[in-house]
Amino acid sequence: MSGLNVKVRDLVKIHHTGKIEVQALRGLNLDISSGELVSIIGPSGSGKSTLLNIIGGLDKATAGIVTVGEKAVTSLSVRQLVDYRRKMVGHIFQNLNLIPTLTAQENIEFSMVASGVKRNVRKQRVQELLNVVGLDARAHHKPEELSGGEQQRIAIASALANDAPILLADEPTGELDTANARLIAEHLVRINRELGKTIIMVTHDPSVARVSTRILRIEDGVIKTALAPSEAIGQEKAVSYVDQIKARIMEINTQITQLDSDFRTEKIDGDEYVQKRLSLKQIRDSLKEECSRMGVIPP
Ligand SMILES: Nc1ncnc2c1ncn2[C@@H]1O[C@H](COP(=O)(O)OP(=O)(O)O)[C@@H](O)[C@H]1O
Ligand SMILES: [Mg+2]
Repeated sequence: MSGLNVKVRDLVKIHHTGKIEVQALRGLNLDISSGELVSIIGPSGSGKSTLLNIIGGLDKATAGIVTVGEKAVTSLSVRQLVDYRRKMVGHIFQNLNLIPTLTAQENIEFSMVASGVKRNVRKQRVQELLNVVGLDARAHHKPEELSGGEQQRIAIASALANDAPILLADEPTGELDTANARLIAEHLVRINRELGKTIIMVTHDPSVARVSTRILRIEDGVIKTALAPSEAIGQEKAVSYVDQIKARIMEINTQITQLDSDFRTEKIDGDEYVQKRLSLKQIRDSLKEECSRMGVIPP
């Protein structure tokens, strides 16, 4: 199934540990279009994992609404959530969550067993997925016989096993070296483009974030900024926040002009044109709003 859009409205999450309360999300709003690959960055403890876990149905919101496609995830019962997790989301975590005693192939198949997928369908799907992550030759290896990067590719294949429209990745390259991190990022890009999955990825790695269509910065439980992937995160401090936003608005203006011209010259079809233009316009509107909030006239 190709992607679905994700809408988050006024999301609040308070974690309780004994008598201590931690407000992890403070009225967070977010719109992700179907088929986007979005990166979420932000300091440790800013609420990134909490957000992904609520979108993925692993954690309950304290208040607010999360909608995936037509489904209001935050209104689902415990039983409905089980079904939602199986069919609608694939999870990729930082700590490689493969079962050590199973082979690569069995690990991928495992996630389909629980959902009651028939044996012959499972076998065929495993083959396809090994192919998607380029690891056909490693089908019978156990996790410990695979490199960290290969293990994470198997974890990606497992997350794709149920053909869920949404992939959620929490620091998927957190334990990998630069070369493997880049390779994982490339696989996610390909899955996003070729299978049309909506991917939301939390990462602290600028070279990984850069592959996404949009980078969102979360701070203290709310989205603070939308950055262009071309803007190196490491350079953020050198350029003022306002200047970054202005530059991004101008960049979007150029992209829209180019898009209009591509459509006129029939380089892209109507559907793609409308979708891309709407999404660019949405980003530009939110950046302009941000300018106004800071008392700056947008370019
Ligand atoms: N299960 C939990 N119980 C209590 N506090 C939690 C729990 N999960 C997260 N928190 C707290 O919520 C805040 C946000 O955490 P988290 O979403 O994990 O941030 P991030 O992924 O951005 O590092 C932190 O202060 C963290 O300590
Ligand atoms: Mg986290």
